[in-house]
Amino acid sequence: MELCVALDLPSAEENLMLAESLKMYNIWMKVGFRAYIRDGKPFIEALKKINPEFKIFLDLKLYDIPNTMADAAEEITKLGVDMFNIHASAGPVAMRTVMERLSAYEKRPLVLAVTALTSFDDETFSLIYEKSIDEKAEQFAKMSYENGLDGVVCSTFESRAIKEATSDDFLTLCPGIRPFGEDAGDQQRVATLEVAAKERVDFPVVGRPIYKDADPQGKVAKIVALMATLQP
Ligand code: C5P
Repeated sequence: MELCVALDLPSAEENLMLAESLKMYNIWMKVGFRAYIRDGKPFIEALKKINPEFKIFLDLKLYDIPNTMADAAEEITKLGVDMFNIHASAGPVAMRTVMERLSAYEKRPLVLAVTALTSFDDETFSLIYEKSIDEKAEQFAKMSYENGLDGVVCSTFESRAIKEATSDDFLTLCPGIRPFGEDAGDQQRVATLEVAAKERVDFPVVGRPIYKDADPQGKVAKIVALMATLQP
């Protein structure tokens, strides 16, 4: 497992201060809509300057026509980030077009597909997708695997079934992690790190339990130490 910290603080300064306090760890940093729309490429560069070994996950969840998605994927690759994501519901042609375009690059970022947004409940989800979340997440995961993506964003509780339906190497990145059972906040289905390890999550994403802690650095130290004991 590799820890991914969500940089969800309200300003670039606060996010960079958090990154600065964590610079001794070669961990993943998740840059989402808010931070990227507001702070853009200079923010990515500032993170890399703090620690060149930080890995950057650009969480922009692309969804458009295949050619437009591939154009965006190419620009993302030029930013030098290490991972980004698209919506699986963009479909197989979009997936293949993105992966084919990126194959021209010697070093390309990992590409994940969002299966089901965790904010959906089953009823609303099936109104749109006409299947249960579990069923559709697995179907989207298989589609992503067959079309050359590296993995999916899913809930911890779908991670194992998705690997069994695809491959052990097919990556799962899972938000809603409460490393030591902290407050769930607005997340519906949360899991501890121990459960995440059992469910074979590759990238546990942790936001509030780290940045709302009085000592984020100490919290990451504890998480990293626990993760080392949970590695197979
Ligand atoms: O603070 P918390 O640990 O709940 O943060 C989780 C992060 O993962 C947030 O940045 C949230 O936007 C993101 N996320 C999520 N569920 C998804 C996709 C992304 O919680 N399905």
